[in-house]
Amino acid sequence: MSGEVYRVLPAAKKRAKIDDEKYLKWYKQSVKDPEKFWGKHGKRIDWFKPYTKVKNTSFEGDVSIKWFEDGVTNVAYNCIDRHLKKRGDQVAIIWEGDNPYDDKKITYNELYDQVCRLANVMKKNGVKKGDRVTIYMPMIPEAAYAMLACARIGAVHSIVFGGFSPEALAGRIVGCESTFLITADEGLRGGKTIPLKANADKAIEIASKGGVDVKSTLVVRRTAAKVDWNEERDIWYHDAVAAARGECAPAKMKAEDPLFILYTSGSTGQPKGVLHTTGGYLVYASMTHEYVFDYHDGDIYWCTADVGWVTGHSYIIYGPLANGATTLMFEGVPNYPSPSRFWDVCDKHNVNIFYTAPTAIRALMGAGDDHVKKASLKSLRTLGSVGEPINPEAWEWYYNTVGNKKSPIVDTWWQTETGGILITPLPGATDLKPGSATRPFFGVQPQLVDNEGEVLEGAVEGNLCIVNSWPGQMRTVYGDHERFIQTYFSTYKGKYFTGDGCRRDEDGYYWITGRVDDVINVSGHRMGTAEVESALVAHGKVSEAAVVGYPHDVKGQGIYCYVTLMEGEEGDDALRKELVAHVRSDIGPIASPDKIQFAPGLPKTRSGKIMRRILRKIAEDDFGSLGDTSTLADPAVVDDLIENRQNKK
Ligand code: PRX
Repeated sequence: MSGEVYRVLPAAKKRAKIDDEKYLKWYKQSVKDPEKFWGKHGKRIDWFKPYTKVKNTSFEGDVSIKWFEDGVTNVAYNCIDRHLKKRGDQVAIIWEGDNPYDDKKITYNELYDQVCRLANVMKKNGVKKGDRVTIYMPMIPEAAYAMLACARIGAVHSIVFGGFSPEALAGRIVGCESTFLITADEGLRGGKTIPLKANADKAIEIASKGGVDVKSTLVVRRTAAKVDWNEERDIWYHDAVAAARGECAPAKMKAEDPLFILYTSGSTGQPKGVLHTTGGYLVYASMTHEYVFDYHDGDIYWCTADVGWVTGHSYIIYGPLANGATTLMFEGVPNYPSPSRFWDVCDKHNVNIFYTAPTAIRALMGAGDDHVKKASLKSLRTLGSVGEPINPEAWEWYYNTVGNKKSPIVDTWWQTETGGILITPLPGATDLKPGSATRPFFGVQPQLVDNEGEVLEGAVEGNLCIVNSWPGQMRTVYGDHERFIQTYFSTYKGKYFTGDGCRRDEDGYYWITGRVDDVINVSGHRMGTAEVESALVAHGKVSEAAVVGYPHDVKGQGIYCYVTLMEGEEGDDALRKELVAHVRSDIGPIASPDKIQFAPGLPKTRSGKIMRRILRKIAEDDFGSLGDTSTLADPAVVDDLIENRQNKK
């Protein structure tokens, strides 16, 4: 599997800031003396008051992670103000609308003006340092302004992806007790509208029953659709911003003051609020952005993610803007108005660095080479992949057909929790193997352990842990530090456990094999099977549900649901449709079940634990190797499950 090696391209090496020799030297230093290494690189951002302490972290006991703790800075200042003198007229954000004729360029000077105005609007409406602000927006420049305006005044943003339902939005509003919301009348993606304001109104109603009253909603006019209006609560963004002052001093933030919360799914319970702080996060996001993509001044950089996910936070907004880059923000989808959209946009804006997800690559590969070949793509120089394992076939298509064999691919492995990229090739330093995220970034110490926690050496497969802190690491689960310790540091004491399985080959390259917990990855979107199960059992006709992932050609994993109905209920296609609609409305379209199997019984141990291993195998249509089923309370249920499986080949 680790056969094919793509050597570093001479042109990439020539241009790159880091070659292999430098990588090895820096990596060694970073691990041997993290204080010294990060003490130096922490200076890549501007500090109002320089730090004297660099690293103060412990993965033991109460788990405490502090970086640059006595330094004072501001993220918005670093992403905007400090660039104004040199690059005030440079484009900071290229916005490409859903409609290919709709685009806009925002310079750093304009960004400064917009962010200051919005910051003043928020202040005027009572938002203070430390307050949580929920952002539920389409991919429009105002989403970037909103993030940066929060950072400017020290408010903590919590972005909820626009594809989430009112219920999911409400849960996140209540979770962080957020009383200020920024949204738009509607979103626009692939020619279809998304009723964001109407969803937000519903969410506010649900949240108020949960004890949190949203006091103000700032609404961007995107499509000019008619929306319900609550005079007491709703404020038109354009009116408020036009009346505000274009100057607002950046708040003085301690390095460990919170920057944002981002809810993400885990193997149990409801999504948790991953908390990232100010100084270490920005140092890490900007440093990885520079070296992983080999970013140089003047490059046009495009990450196709949505700001609703961590990739959008670190690699559309914070990393690139901290580096004074021109970052492209795309409102649409890869196949609208046609599957050549990505490539057309690359040509239109002369994109040099392009960063996307395997699911998009697979879908576009399936649409045929003609769409790519029509485009010149000659500006491309570095290609990136993120979010899920990339299969070698898709990797090779990306490299050969999109990259024309002249752009290295950086397959970047990381997580919402890690804040930035942890395992990745560097364009001028690393020989590539399709499907491998290759080697750790500076300061990152991966370790593979077996299920008992024994450290595994050499070429081996195991559970991926990280044994020392890096500046971009999450600091806690918002409002629940105990859950933070339990989730990440208790499986293997003293180590951060990623939840991923991983193989290390004879060259020391890492190959992520996917989640080893009950988290599934659907089109690069992370989902807890427990969340989908709890949505299903909330339906009146369902008595029990078990959800597993199965391999899916385009999505990476599909969602397979085993559903036991209430006594007397009949499982048919109409009910299947009803259940799919129910889950979509409870969580959002991204959680749509792909397969629903009605099961009179689920395979359980005598103590009542569902044996998911068996359910996964049946969902994969691989029931020849179910292993030992003798410990089941009722082994006969398995025959029925096999008989009625939905993925028969
Ligand atoms: O399983 C890994 C997978 O995505 C998970 C993290 O998901 P999330 O927090 O939503 O962040 C996604 C974007 C950073 C990981 O635990 N994953 C992410 N990148 C890769 C990957 N799996 C394999 N290869 C990758 N490059």
